Amino acid sequence: MRSKKPIHILGIETSCDETAIGIVDASRMSLLSHAVASQIPLHAPYFGVVPELASRAHLEKIHDTLELCFRKAHLKPGKLAGVAYTQGPGLKGSLLVGEAVAKSLAWSINAPLIPINHLEAHFAGVCIDDPGFKPPFIGLLVSGGHTDLILVKKWGECRIIGRTLDDACGEALDKFSKMLRLTYPGGPVIEKLARKGNPKKITFPRPFLPGSWNFSFSGLKTSALYRIQSGKRFKKTDIAASFQEAIFDTLLFKARRAILKYKLNRLVIAGGVASNSRLRQVFTDAAAKEGWQVFYPAKRFSTDNGAMIAMMGALKYRARKVKRLPLTAGPADSTLSF
Ligand code: KG4
Ligand code: ZN
Repeated sequence: MRSKKPIHILGIETSCDETAIGIVDASRMSLLSHAVASQIPLHAPYFGVVPELASRAHLEKIHDTLELCFRKAHLKPGKLAGVAYTQGPGLKGSLLVGEAVAKSLAWSINAPLIPINHLEAHFAGVCIDDPGFKPPFIGLLVSGGHTDLILVKKWGECRIIGRTLDDACGEALDKFSKMLRLTYPGGPVIEKLARKGNPKKITFPRPFLPGSWNFSFSGLKTSALYRIQSGKRFKKTDIAASFQEAIFDTLLFKARRAILKYKLNRLVIAGGVASNSRLRQVFTDAAAKEGWQVFYPAKRFSTDNGAMIAMMGALKYRARKVKRLPLTAGPADSTLSF
């Protein structure tokens, strides 16, 4: 049997605080290598991402991360069939670093440039372990910057149904962690504490916002602050479990409504908060009980990574939704734009 000729697609992710690269073989939809330079220690003292520090760190890290990824895949840049990169949404300065590198690389090897929507790419992370996975589905993106409900009809055809009006759920976990004088990022440390706590011990509101598809977590955050400042005694394990549960109940309430309304029996949950084991248990249990399916990328591909960008790039390449960079320099005035 003749083996398929590999089609190497590189993915560059610099939308927030991870400088991340991945390489996928689009002929088999298989991941060849990935590398991540995390900026968590840089932002930890501020309990959130500082945009200016993030873009500088991307500049400092991107070339080494690229080299590492090529080395791991035993590949030279000239062998690439396409260069995908996160076009947005994200922090402008950070995105520009990824875009500049992607454009230079694509141009220098005469390969197509593939701009990627970061939100959609999070869901394409499912394809890393399940190459045949396809829309339609309802996507729930839960991270430090996003809490979005998205209708994904086809790859490349997404519609945002609802999103947070204030804090993203990951951001609420990060700020809650700060209130408890714990560490950044908050999600993993809250998850660890919550494992030993009782989620019913402290009653927090569930911000369901009836009649709206949007989310709002700032009231829940304030209610946690008042509870902490009230002087009433509590165990950190119990408050962590109760706070986390209020967020997950709210996410489930909205996702379930979207599944019913759009008559789609399939939900994909991605983003940093989707690496939480309790969240996965809440959704997996509900899906089994109510007769729908839930999918997640592997935990290590739930947070920002280059593999998901390369995977989305491979999907676009296979759908022929790519183009080569035009060369626009010209001697006549008419060819220049102002
Ligand atoms: O997707 P991500 O790496 O970056 C963006 O924000 O785009 O998500 C980071 C967020 C942070 O708010 C962090 O606290 C949260 O994901 N997170 C978690 C867990 N790991 C990371 N939240 C809950 N449980 C976790 N295990
Ligand atoms: Zn993300």
